Amino acid sequence: MSTVQGRLRIAVQKSGRLAERSLDLVRDAGLRVVKGNNDLLYRVENYPIDLLRVRDDDIPTFVADGVCDLGIVGENVLEEGRNGGPMAEVVMPLGFGRCTLKIAAPPALDYAGPASLQGLRVATSYPRVLRRWLEAEGVQADIVTMRGAVEVAPRLKLAQAICDLVSTGATLEANGLAARDTVLDSQAVLIRAPTAPEPALAELLDSIVERMAGVVASQG
Ligand code: PRP
Ligand code: ZN
Ligand code: MG
Repeated sequence: MSTVQGRLRIAVQKSGRLAERSLDLVRDAGLRVVKGNNDLLYRVENYPIDLLRVRDDDIPTFVADGVCDLGIVGENVLEEGRNGGPMAEVVMPLGFGRCTLKIAAPPALDYAGPASLQGLRVATSYPRVLRRWLEAEGVQADIVTMRGAVEVAPRLKLAQAICDLVSTGATLEANGLAARDTVLDSQAVLIRAPTAPEPALAELLDSIVERMAGVVASQG
């Protein structure tokens, strides 16, 4: 079920922090990408490959289910998608899209380590990753799940602390928050479906992975 019409599918983020570099990697690997009739699908004109342009949160599922053969996604998103079900396989880290999932809070909050979060409310868009981290640290805290604008939660008294992605640190600074702990270091990774594509496409898939590895190595 991994492909239809004899074409491989690569899932990439449609817009956001990884979108441009993902497309660069695909192009640098020798795939000539042309826009299709719709925004969801870009076609590769020199190989039987399509790019599926979707929300990053959907990429792990698409690849785990074999709807796409390959995907480019942040480790943060991959880890949040971990739910005990079948997983996409990580092929390799890609060396871009680095960011860190951090605990942050207003400076007034005394923070001497994870135990300082005991009994507090922590807002995040990464409830599963945060829950696992808190459990590993033996801390009980209430997780408030927000889809976005997590950085405003302390000001709105929705939570005393947040767990959010930090890249440049500009968002934390603009909201008067200080980073206090690291939950997860992340970068973009290439993932592949646990199931093989149809036999006629298996070699192509391997060669695309090899070329991407070459591109990544040359940028190292
Ligand atoms: C993340 C995070 C912050 C911002 C941090 O959002 O939620 O808003 O990036 O980056 P900075 O440290 O460079 O300011 P992201 O762009 O991933 O998207 P989202 O919040 O819309 O999901
Ligand atoms: Zn997202
Ligand atoms: Mg944001």
